[in-house]
Amino acid sequence: MKTLLLLPGDGIGPEVIAEVRKVVAALMAKGGLELTLVERPFGGTSYDLHGTPLTAEAEAVALASDAVLMGAVGGPKWAGVGRDVRPEAGLLRLRKSMDVFANLRPAICFDALADASTLKHEVVAGLDIMIVRELCGGVYFGQPRGIETLPDGQRRGFDTQVYTTSEIERIARVAFELARSRDNRVTSAEKSNVMESGLFWREVVTDIHARDYADVKLDHMLADNCSMQLVRNPKQFDVILTDNLFGDLLSDQASMATGSIGLLPSAALGVAGKPGLYEPIHGSAPDIAGQGVANPVAAILSFEMALRWSLERPDLADRLYGAVEAALNGGARTRDLGGKLSTEEMGAAILAQL
Ligand code: NAD
Ligand code: IPM
Ligand code: MN
Repeated sequence: MKTLLLLPGDGIGPEVIAEVRKVVAALMAKGGLELTLVERPFGGTSYDLHGTPLTAEAEAVALASDAVLMGAVGGPKWAGVGRDVRPEAGLLRLRKSMDVFANLRPAICFDALADASTLKHEVVAGLDIMIVRELCGGVYFGQPRGIETLPDGQRRGFDTQVYTTSEIERIARVAFELARSRDNRVTSAEKSNVMESGLFWREVVTDIHARDYADVKLDHMLADNCSMQLVRNPKQFDVILTDNLFGDLLSDQASMATGSIGLLPSAALGVAGKPGLYEPIHGSAPDIAGQGVANPVAAILSFEMALRWSLERPDLADRLYGAVEAALNGGARTRDLGGKLSTEEMGAAILAQL
């Protein structure tokens, strides 16, 4: 029996995870899914209860699970808490301790939503790209970092962007392997024109490509151009390989080509056999939290990715994906997609198809 840890978190996190819970229950009742569900507070919710965004106990439960599915963390309520106990610090600590370095962020435009994007129909119709974001390194974790006071009384804030050969090689391998199962093309995005770590990234990706993946078509693109190309012609891409920070930005941007950030799931994977961390790419959306209008699709599709990548039920993943597609084909739309459905009604529309 597999174990799934739910971490609803903050803001709209619990609202969208509530819909995932119903999907899990339906698949257990009617799809032959056998799963032990566990749940823990996370982020600001955990801070309020335990003074830390991630307790050692919750962390241990995560490491002992087969998959972890989170909603979202953060929000203005915790703007003043200590840096090391802010909600987002808990998420970073969890990613690092699970060593889920490979963050797969698929941006797929459902046919029914080709008119939902702020981009033109012909630019986004049929879009199917995969952003492979490095998740456990780079400027998110590099040392030194801090804010200090200089002798002249000025203050200085600093972070360190840093990548080692093995960190780049392992994420590049994931991108190349994935490309082989898709359109066999990888675009590696960095700033090798400005950053030493960017130049090094390009060198390592070039080396490993020549050594082990020469059959895959590899292009290098400066990350600023990549961001522009994602709006100009997103369909030119198959797999985008990039670092932690650029991957964060490029995936939010790519989400709009699919209609809404409320649609994009992600899977964070580590070494084979270890649990994966599944999360919508969106945040806690403080502006709509508590209103019951958040789109639950990104969270539901994150569970779909968990079924595929950690829970060994690709058959149920296909079924769930089909149910989401059918609900959208039937006109189900939350507010972010120009519709009127509440979070619960959207979940119900998907459940009805399931
Ligand atoms: P956000 O993604 O929470 O929201 C950005 C915009 O998108 C908002 O207008 C929001 O209403 C909308 N949106 C997001 N998800 C939606 C959904 N499912 N349905 C409909 N609309 C949706 O980004 P933000 O406002 O910059 O960040 C808010 C907080 O969330 C911050 O504390 C940030 O650190 C945190 N955050 C957490 C995660 C995570 O837990 N994985 C990810 C991103 C941001
Ligand atoms: C994301 C989020 C996180 C990130 C934050 C909340 C730490 O924006 O998952 O995209 O920057 O990685
Ligand atoms: Mn983000």
